[in-house]
Amino acid sequence: MKTYYLTTPIYYVNARPHLGHTYTTIIADAVVRFQRMAGRDVALVTGTDEHGKKIERSAEAAGMDPQKFTDGVSAEFRSLWDRLGLGYTHFVRTSSPQHRKAVLKIFAAVEKAGYIYKGSYRGRYCVSDEAFITDTAEEEVDCPLCGRPTELVEEENYFFKLSAFQEPLLELYKKDPGFVRPQTRRNEVVRFVEEGLKDLSISRKNLKWGIPFPLESDQVFYVWFDALTSYLSGVGYGKGPEEEKFFRKCWPADVHLVGKEILRFHAVYWPAFLMAAGLPLPKKIYAHGWLLFEQDKMSKSKGNVVRAEPLAEAVGIDGLRYYLMRDIVFGQDSSFSYDGLVQRFNSDLANDLGNLASRTMNMIGRYFEGVVPEPGKESEGRQEKDIRELAAKTLADYQMRFENFEFSRALEALWQFIGRINKYLVETQPWVLAGKPDEASRAKLSTVLYTSAEAVRLSAVLLYPVTPRSAQKLWAQLGFTDALENQRLKDLAWGGLPAGQKTGAAEAIFPRLDKKETVQKIIAATAGEEKPKNRNEKGKGKKMSSEGFGEETGIISIDDFAKVDLRVGEIKTAERIEGATKLLKLMVDIGSEVRQVLAGIAEYYEPESLVGRKVVVVANLKPRKMRGHESQGMVVAASLGEEGKPVLVTFTEEVPNGARLR
Ligand code: ME8
Ligand code: MG
Repeated sequence: MKTYYLTTPIYYVNARPHLGHTYTTIIADAVVRFQRMAGRDVALVTGTDEHGKKIERSAEAAGMDPQKFTDGVSAEFRSLWDRLGLGYTHFVRTSSPQHRKAVLKIFAAVEKAGYIYKGSYRGRYCVSDEAFITDTAEEEVDCPLCGRPTELVEEENYFFKLSAFQEPLLELYKKDPGFVRPQTRRNEVVRFVEEGLKDLSISRKNLKWGIPFPLESDQVFYVWFDALTSYLSGVGYGKGPEEEKFFRKCWPADVHLVGKEILRFHAVYWPAFLMAAGLPLPKKIYAHGWLLFEQDKMSKSKGNVVRAEPLAEAVGIDGLRYYLMRDIVFGQDSSFSYDGLVQRFNSDLANDLGNLASRTMNMIGRYFEGVVPEPGKESEGRQEKDIRELAAKTLADYQMRFENFEFSRALEALWQFIGRINKYLVETQPWVLAGKPDEASRAKLSTVLYTSAEAVRLSAVLLYPVTPRSAQKLWAQLGFTDALENQRLKDLAWGGLPAGQKTGAAEAIFPRLDKKETVQKIIAATAGEEKPKNRNEKGKGKKMSSEGFGEETGIISIDDFAKVDLRVGEIKTAERIEGATKLLKLMVDIGSEVRQVLAGIAEYYEPESLVGRKVVVVANLKPRKMRGHESQGMVVAASLGEEGKPVLVTFTEEVPNGARLR
C-alpha cells in the first residue's frame, strides 16, 4: 500500500518560527493523525530552507557564519514542533549532505533530458521571496508578491527551459482540475501560465551560500530549485538503494500544503522540474490563505510578532489547534484575534463539549457508581433514534469534510451533534429521572446516560486529529485504557461503548477561562517582541511575517514605560492664577529641585489644603506655557466621571521626595 505523503513548506531560517508557520504545521499534523486513523501509513516532511541570498544576508546581519546561523534557527523550528507535539516523520535541512545529493541527482536527470542551457540574466530580483520578478531591468519595480523593492541582478548563469512546459502544464491543470486547490487559486495559476512562461535562471553567480552548481565552479543552485527538492530528499530520494525503496512507497506526494504566496513555485516550477526529470507529479497542491492580525487596527509603526507559545500557554496546545482549525476557513485569509481565541475556547470547548462530558461523567458517577449503564431497549424512543441517525450522518460528514480539507465544516458538523446531545439532556432531565423510584424511570435514566456517554466517545475519536491530548483525556474518562490513536475510523459506529465499563475520574478538561485576564496574559507575554519595520505590504490585510507585522494593542514594553520619569514630589506652595479658573500654580519639591507645575485642579482643591502633600510628578515632560506661566512637569491624578474630576495620587506610607516610580 502506498504511504500517504504530506509536506509543509520548508521554512526559511532568516527568523524564528511564528504563528503562520505553526498554522501550516498544525494542519499537517492534524491531517496525518486523521489519515492514520483512516488506516494509512503516513509520512510528513517538514524542515528548513537554509540557502540563498536572504539567509546569507540574515547571517551576515547577525555577524555569524551562515552554517552556524542556520544550525541555530533550524533547531528552533524543530524544537518548537517537538514542544507542540507536531508529528513530522522527517525533517529536512537543505544544508545537509543528504539533501545536496538529491539536488544533484534530480539536476543530472533534468540536464540529461536537455532542459538546461547557459545564458545571461538581467532583471529584477526580490531577495525576500527569492524570486525573479521581471526582465525589464531598468525599472525600479516593487515585488508583486511582498511589496518590497527589488534589486537589479545581472549575471551569466544557467537556465531551465521552463517555456517548454507551458502546454504540458496547461494540459495538467485541465486534466486534473483538483491539482491546485482551492479553485480560485487554480484559476490564477492557469492565467499566469497562459500569459506565457519564460525560461528560468536556476544558478546564481553572486552568491556563495548554496549548493555548488556542477557545471560551473563559481556558481550555486538557485535556492528554489534546491528547496523544492526537499520534498524528494525528505523521503530518501538520492540517499541510497534502501532509502529509495521508501521513497518509492511515498512518492508522489499526496498533498503539498503551502501558503498562497508560494503557490507559483509549487504549481508551476515544481511540476515542470519533475516532468523534466521524468519523475511523477504530486497529486495535489493546496494553497491556504494568510493569518492576518486584527486587520483594521493594524499599525505599521508598532506591534508584535505573534508566536504560538504564549497562545498555547494561555489556552493549551489543543485550544490553539481547535481555534485555528475551527475559526479559519482553510484556504481563505483570516483575521486572528486573541479575543476570538479565548471566545472559541470558552464557547465550544469549555461550554459545549466540556459541559457535556462533565455532566455525563458526573451523573454516571452519581447514579451508577461510575459504571456505564446498559441502555434499556424498551425505553428507547424517537429522540434516541434521531440521535443515532444524526451520529451516523455526523461520522460520514465529518470524515468527508476532513478528507476534503474543510476542517471548519467538519468541526461545525460535529458541534451540531454535540449541541443536539446537550439539548437531549435538557429534554430528558436525567437528574429528575434519578429522583423517581419506578423501574421505568430507572431504565430511561440508563438509556439517557448511555446515549450521552456514547456521544462523548464518538466525539473523542473524531476530535483526536484536532485536539489529540484532550481527546485522549475524554477517552480515559470513559474508562478506556488504550491509546485513542489506535482507533480506526472504519470501525467507528454507534454502540461501541461497552456497558459495564468502569469510567475514569471526571475532571474538567477545558476549565472556562476569564476572557479579559487571559487576553491580558497573552498580551503581557507577547510584549517586548521585536518591532516590525515600516513596510508596504501588498494584499488586503497585512500578513503575519517574521519580518514583522503590526497590531495596535496599545501595549508598550517595559522600556517604553521606563522612558517616563515619575517622581515623588512634595507640594511646597499652591496658589490660584489670575483669570484662569481651573489652574493652580504649584511649587513642587522633587528632591533634586523645586519645580513650578501647573495643574487643572482649581475647581476641586483648595490651594491651602495641598501644601505639604506628597504627589506624583512626571518629571521629564517637555515644559509648556499655560496662560503665560511655564509648567515644568505634571502632577498625576485619577480622572473621575463624565467631567473628569481629578483626584491626586498620593502615598499612605513615608516616601522621600525625588523617589523614582517604576
Ligand atoms: O516561503 N499565515 O518559507 P517561509 C499563514 N522557504 N501561513 C503563513 C503565514 C501567515 N501569516 N506566514 C507564513 C518559504 N506562513 C520557503 C518555502 S518550500 C519548498 C520553500 C506559512 O519561511 C505558510 O505555509 O516564508 C507559508 O507558505 C510558509 O509559512 C512560508 O514560510
Ligand atoms: Mg515567506
